[in-house]
Amino acid sequence: MNDSDPMNLRDFEAVAMTSIGRMAFDYYAGGADDEITLFENTAAWGRARLLYRVLADVADRTVGCTVLGHELSMPVMAAPTAFHRMAHDEGELATVRATTGAGTAMILSSLSTVDVEDVLAAASGPVFFQLYLYKDREISRELIERVTAAGCAAIILTVDAPLLGNRERDEQNGFALPDGISIRNLTARGPLACDSDGGSGLAKFVRDHQDPGLRWEHLEWLRSITNLPIVLKGICRRDDAVRAFDAGASGIVVSNHGGRQLDTSPPTFEVLPGICEAVAGRGEVWVDGGIRRGTDVIKALACGATATLIGRPILWGLAADGQAGVERVWRIMAEELDLAMALAGCRNVGEITRDLVQLPGEDPRA
Ligand SMILES: Cc1cc2nc3c(=O)[nH]c(=O)nc-3n(C[C@H](O)[C@H](O)[C@H](O)COP(=O)(O)O)c2cc1C
Repeated sequence: MNDSDPMNLRDFEAVAMTSIGRMAFDYYAGGADDEITLFENTAAWGRARLLYRVLADVADRTVGCTVLGHELSMPVMAAPTAFHRMAHDEGELATVRATTGAGTAMILSSLSTVDVEDVLAAASGPVFFQLYLYKDREISRELIERVTAAGCAAIILTVDAPLLGNRERDEQNGFALPDGISIRNLTARGPLACDSDGGSGLAKFVRDHQDPGLRWEHLEWLRSITNLPIVLKGICRRDDAVRAFDAGASGIVVSNHGGRQLDTSPPTFEVLPGICEAVAGRGEVWVDGGIRRGTDVIKALACGATATLIGRPILWGLAADGQAGVERVWRIMAEELDLAMALAGCRNVGEITRDLVQLPGEDPRA
């Protein structure tokens, strides 16, 4: 290994910074407004303590788990992130090969820069499709039919983005997709550009196409047009979490979009325990936002999450070294999680229980 090889997921960011241009780096790295939620997402995991068990015979261990009925190599999946071809020419193809090759699942963004059919053809494991609902419902219907035919195994409906958050880096850079890269999966009717009008081209795109008028009733419509499991992504309150399951969702993602939507919304780890208590096993609870270490994953599962997602580290791995970079991200994550579980006294994810975590201000439960 070279001195400059990334040792952990954070190291990849520095490598990525030197391998892609400023506009792409800022788009991937940035958050909304003052980036307080962006910063806090990561910091919150570090504030909890792990009360490890000793003499637990951890000679035989597995980090495998089950998500929506799929057996995964680890409870960490690739979060949906847009525009992978800005990081590497192979884009989402490299990501899906590395991610499903590592035995875990990929959530493909609506804003993918590779056609969904090509992504699924390159996959060796489950791919879920992240959906934004568009003003033109027919577009959404066609899109769901298209991704279902391609083989996507679930719909992840993002509900925290009626409009795009105020991402000042993108406004300043006049964010636009470079020539030759387009949004491939918005419609069954052909790719779409994302051009700047001086400010952020993505903010304009969202204003033009996405529907800020979404209501809970629209879930019924969605349910009526697909048999795939539906997971709501972007939940930060207990009442919304309960309502999601009341509305027939199979799962939720506790997420604030990686700090890119409403700044000063709480870091996801702060709200996760309360949400898991409120929904008490009614379905799957995934969480993302600032997860960078195996120990973060243990904390999430101890507080009731079924699985976790990572967003930016995948993009940094892709920018650093394409498919091989993303493969390395997954290898590091699997090794860290395995070691952290061994040191915590857990042989499998079922043994990751609430008493392992001491939250800030809480008395130890063990
Ligand atoms: C560059 C970038 C693009 C993203 N694009 C999408 C998207 O298209 N759809 C979506 O639901 N979430 C999107 N997200 C949010 C991620 O799915 C996820 O919630 C977030 O990245 C998790 O935080 P992390 O990056 O700290 O791991 C994006 C995030 C980033 C960083």
